Formats: sequence, structure tokens, C-alpha cells
Amino acid sequence: MRILVVGSGGREHALCWKIAASPLCDKLYCAPGNAGIAADAECVPINAEDIPALVAFAQTEKIDFVVVGPEGPLVKGLADALEAAGIATFGPSAKAAELEGSKGFMKDLAAKYHVPTAAYQRFRDAAAAKAFAATLPVPVVVKADGLAAGKGVVIAQTHTEANAAIDAMMLDRHFGEAGAELVVEEFMTGEELSFFALCDGTHAVPLASAQDHKQVGDGDTGPNTGGMGAYSPAPISTPEIERRIMAEIILPTVAGMAAEGRPFKGVLFAGIMVTKDGPKLIEFNCRFGDPECEVLMLRLKSDVLPALMAARDGGLKNFDLRWFDAAAVTVVMAANGYPGKPETGTVIRNLDAAAKLADVAVFHAGTKLNDAGEIIAAGGRVLAVSATGVDVKLAQQRAYQAVDAIDWPGGFCRRDIAHRAIARP
Ligand code: AMP
Ligand code: GLY
Repeated sequence: MRILVVGSGGREHALCWKIAASPLCDKLYCAPGNAGIAADAECVPINAEDIPALVAFAQTEKIDFVVVGPEGPLVKGLADALEAAGIATFGPSAKAAELEGSKGFMKDLAAKYHVPTAAYQRFRDAAAAKAFAATLPVPVVVKADGLAAGKGVVIAQTHTEANAAIDAMMLDRHFGEAGAELVVEEFMTGEELSFFALCDGTHAVPLASAQDHKQVGDGDTGPNTGGMGAYSPAPISTPEIERRIMAEIILPTVAGMAAEGRPFKGVLFAGIMVTKDGPKLIEFNCRFGDPECEVLMLRLKSDVLPALMAARDGGLKNFDLRWFDAAAVTVVMAANGYPGKPETGTVIRNLDAAAKLADVAVFHAGTKLNDAGEIIAAGGRVLAVSATGVDVKLAQQRAYQAVDAIDWPGGFCRRDIAHRAIARP
């Protein structure tokens, strides 16, 4: 098969690494890819959101299967355009990707199909949003409806802060058109879990459990990021919690989306709050998590391609996925300044030495080559340094050995990734 992966992050590097290992894969391209992905795939300089250029490339190169990594192109209709051109694609249609593209749509769907989630209302008027926020106990959660690169959520500690967030999103348009509509909702208390299920429009197959660390600083402090690290398995995800998430959240959503004429095919990523009353939905994403994908690909024993193709083809009924018992940990190395404006262009050395360590995989999240052929930082999250081990503690030790082997004064990482899993017996 001739395969094209769309995207340029650590998630796409992990997908390319796993797909390249499949005996079904004859030729692998990645658009646009990055300096690390180039070791596993031929990178083509097409932007992940340039739908006409991606369709034209897939046609010219006779691509058999496209795997779309990020949400942006999915929400814009990349899967629809490729399928219309006769190219089989892993990833939901634009109508199904609205589960991530519109938080209001997601909340209404959850309400209609009795999926447990925080109490909420949708608003297009700032005064009405503030009036509703005033009725909720603090903290109050204010969300821009549309895509805001993971930044469109404010947990307001006071009603004054909630009002300021409503004004910033709706009146000042901090997140552009994403803030034309808002969701104001109740704050849920508990521990967060990332839950993934492959879906084929009708059936759903859960993936191994994972958790990420959203905050930039050790001890889960400081501003939110796209994810500073991840680990799998996640001890909080007991078989009973997983059973409830499937029965109460994933399956009703898959059935609801089919009933709405928007069958969801691809990977459904549920952000879950494990509360004292059980699992509740925080949000849906229509793609793999990053860096959760890195730990999942390291632990997946089965060939990933038949699974992704079955999701596209409607073939997931009784589909069997095998996982390694080993645990996996990913430590994200970010450029100084992240999650604010990252300092790019700094040279990263000794990546080969790190990658040669036992049970280590160094995925690239935002790198490129400079004119001298050196690897340089080209984004906020730059490396996803990953390792496996018999338990999370050993995987963590190996991941940090690899981090310490890398010579990159322009970057930093958290030193406590997976602390929750290690603390829990
Ligand atoms: P989202 O982009 O919706 O995942 O929100 C980003 C982060 O905000 C989540 O990962 C949670 O940590 C937090 N969050 C969002 N909504 C809620 C809520 N209703 N209650 C508590 N925390 C929330
Ligand atoms: N790591 C969370 C996300 O991919 O949204």
C-alpha cells in the first residue's frame, strides 16, 4: 500500500513510525512532516490544511490510504474531499468532526443522548452569558465554541474573572471567530483521563488507557499546554471505569452521531473527568491526542494499519487489538518560552545517542534542518522523548535518561511526567 500521513507533530511521527513497520506499507509519505519524520517517511512540503494540494498529491501519487493526524483539516473537510476523490481516508467527515470543532454541538449531542457531562448553556450574547455564569458556583468554566488551539478554555476562579473571560472571547475576539459563540459550564472535580476508541460509524474498540500532563510546570502548575508528557497504562482507568466510559459515553455518542446522520469514523478521543459519581465527559476530540498517541503507538502490538482501515471500512465489529504489557512514558521537550512565544532556531545535538538507548524512541514534534544540516527547534513542543519499561517507573527512568543525553540548551521539560501513576500503587 501507498500511504500518506497528514500532519507534522510528535503524534504524526509516532503514527509514521508504527505504519512504516507494517508489512502492508510499501511507500509512506508525510505532509508536511518534520526532520525526524523524514527517517520513517518521505516528507512532502504541503501544509496539513491545504486540502486541494493534498487531494491532488494523493491522486498523482496513487495513494491507497490517508491517515489524518490533526483536527484542523478534519474540521475543514479534508476526509470528505479525499473520499470524494476516491481515496480511502482515516479520519471523520467535517460533520462528524464537529464533535471537536464546536463545543456547543458536542454539549447538545451529549444532552440529547444522555451522556454525563457538566451542566452548561450556549450563548451568542455576552450579557446573557454573564447572567448564567452568575448562577453557577465558582470556579466557572468559559469556553470558546470553535477551535482555539487548545487555548479557548478559561477556568474562572471568581465571577469577575468569568465576566472578563466572556468579554475577552466574545467582544475582543481573543480567539477570533471561535469566540462568536460561548459555552458556559459547571466545573467538575476529579482526575482527568484521556480515553480513545477507534470508531467505524457503528462500532467502537477502546484503545489502551493513557493520561497526559497539561500544565507546563512540575507538580502540575502554571499555564495549560497541548500536553507536556503522557503515560500508558493509566492506573486510574480501572476495568470498571473503562466499562462505564464505553457504556455511558462512547457507545451512546457513536449511536447518537449515526442517528444524526453524522456517523463518526476515526478515533474518538474523550477527555474524561473521573468524579466521585463516576466518569463524566469534559470534551471530545476527533483525533489522537498528542502526546498520548506516542505512548499508545509504543504499546500497540498489533499492526496499526488494519485497525485504521477497519475504522474507515466499517469493519470494527469484534476487532481485536493486542497491546504489549510494558508501560510507556513520553516526556515532551519544549522550546524555551513555550507555551508563550517559543524561541525557535536553536540547535539540538546528540539525538542519535539518545535514540540508541535501550527501549527509547525519540519522536520529533517540531524540528527542521538548518542550512548546515543540523536539527533545529521549529515550534513550541519540539521533541517527544519516549521509552518503554516493565512498569511506568522504569519507563520514566529510561525516558529521562534519553532526555539527559540530548544536548539542547534552548529547550526544557518537566521532570515529573507520570508522577501520578508512580504514586498510585
Ligand atoms: P478542553 O479544551 O475542553 O479539554 O478544556 C481544557 C482543560 O480545561 C481540560 O483538560 C480540563 O482540565 C479543564 N476543563 C474543561 N472543562 C472543565 C470542566 N467543566 N470542569 C473542570 N475542568 C474543566
Ligand atoms: N494531549 C491532549 C490533546 O492532544 O489534546
